[in-house]
Amino acid sequence: MLTLKKKLADSILCKLNEKNDAHGLDADAIAQMFEYPPDRAMGDLAFPCFKLSKALRAAPPAIAAMLADSVSMPEIAKAEIAGGYLNMFISDAYLAEKLGNINALGENYGRFDFGKGKKIVLDYSSPNVAKPFHIGHLGTTVIGHSLKMLHEFVGYECIGINHLGDWGTQFGKLIVAYRLWGDRATIEAGGIDELVALYVKFHAEAEADPALNDRAREEFTKLEHFDEDNIALWKWFIEISLAEYQKTYKQLGIEFDSYNGESFYSDKMPAIVQELRDKNLMTIDDGASIVNLEEYNMGPCLILKRDGSTLYPTRDIAAAKYRKDTYDFEKCIYVTSAGQSLHFAQWFKVVELMGYEWAHDLVHVPYGTVSINGEKLATRTGNVILLKDLFAMSVDKVRGIIKEKNPDLAGSDEVAEAVGVGAIVFHYLTNSRIKDINFVLEDALSFEGNTGPYSQYTYARTCSILEKAENDGKAGEFTDDSERELVKVLARYPEKILDALGDYEPMIITRYILDVCNSFNRFYHSCKIIGADDASVRDTRVYLTKAVNSVLKTAFKLICIKPTEKI
Ligand code: ARG
Repeated sequence: MLTLKKKLADSILCKLNEKNDAHGLDADAIAQMFEYPPDRAMGDLAFPCFKLSKALRAAPPAIAAMLADSVSMPEIAKAEIAGGYLNMFISDAYLAEKLGNINALGENYGRFDFGKGKKIVLDYSSPNVAKPFHIGHLGTTVIGHSLKMLHEFVGYECIGINHLGDWGTQFGKLIVAYRLWGDRATIEAGGIDELVALYVKFHAEAEADPALNDRAREEFTKLEHFDEDNIALWKWFIEISLAEYQKTYKQLGIEFDSYNGESFYSDKMPAIVQELRDKNLMTIDDGASIVNLEEYNMGPCLILKRDGSTLYPTRDIAAAKYRKDTYDFEKCIYVTSAGQSLHFAQWFKVVELMGYEWAHDLVHVPYGTVSINGEKLATRTGNVILLKDLFAMSVDKVRGIIKEKNPDLAGSDEVAEAVGVGAIVFHYLTNSRIKDINFVLEDALSFEGNTGPYSQYTYARTCSILEKAENDGKAGEFTDDSERELVKVLARYPEKILDALGDYEPMIITRYILDVCNSFNRFYHSCKIIGADDASVRDTRVYLTKAVNSVLKTAFKLICIKPTEKI
């Protein structure tokens, strides 16, 4: 509908200018004003005239009447004045042309190229090594990847970075715990779970024996000074953890371009600290080095601890500078829980105070916290769900359903995997990202209603129709309203892409997929497709199915879901 809105806006603008050109609007502003009426009886597109009332010194219904003939064009079948609105009904001619466009573009439909030649860095997932990879990480992982796919869809070159939490005092703890209670073979066999167990044990033991904490600090200091044994252990812990994360990423179809985590910036921090000093931004507070941000209504940004060691913000500042120098990004996007919003606001401000114009290109995309059964996630009390367990449960459930309903399905393991993992991702991305989520396992594993499996199933249905049709159909006349409605929904895809990008909001795509599926299923139930008596009617319907198929296919990829052709 974008091009239609633009065309209507040009025409409305002409008319307005004839009347009174002091309205202060341009074609883009007018194009933004169109609304989609909530009810079909009110047309397909409405132009609200209230906003023009003041500038034109006329009542909205009078303005609507005045504009009515400016929207008379082949795309508009009729226009009605209703209160202050000009309601427009789209013509079959336009819908047919649109459908032709969609199919001509195929998987390129919905794409733009305004990102061409520009780079976007995305920092997402970024778990802390040797800590459990749990449902709290699902958000950053799938929102981040979805934003990457969306930016690529509009032409950007995207660099996905997994800023691993691979540095910090927790490694001192782990080294101590491993030497006291650990065993190489057990860890090699048990992987990250064994590391987590050691970490949890360390905390329990340190409560009774606080001296353990001192030992941990010492071991971390040794690590910072490149003690060979500690470095070897540290590398091994990372390897074990990464192997585990990568299994999950593989299930999701996610690949990162870089795993440069916090440790990567160790040797880049002294220069940053020196720069802050040279630019007179740092002050000493109780022995620690900070950047005071009182003037900006924020607490101080901590740069160095009392013992001179660096902190999380220091590493982020060094990483941002490195990324700007390396990639010359147009934007660098960070996806983390909203709990870190202050951290990002603080160090973004520090980068700005350092005089870097590109501080304004750093974007924090927060998402709501996840709780389970109303309680905060907590590794130590066991109130966590590991991502791998969650995926396994869902995949198992799908496998069971396939066994029962379609036992001869070829490649059923792969399908179960795609649909099972997709169900969880879809469930998560149906919510607005900023909303806090109370995760209820039964809901995530319920495949009824507006779910991932339902959408995947609809997609598979389009595949099977196309397979049976043995061709992609061709354009012809519409004979049922459900066909028209379906094209109207498909026509909104490019707008949805822009909205999702503008709001950094994958949910817009998830909900759009549901709109497409619901609209397709209404069409499917009210129209015979392959079985239509008339050859031309059949061709049109197959042609429509083809368009739905390719929109769903690209949209699934945008939200990190693998489309499956058969279920
Ligand atoms: N490792 C951090 C955590 O688990 C997230 C890192 C986000 N990225 C960043 N550049 N700070 O909380």
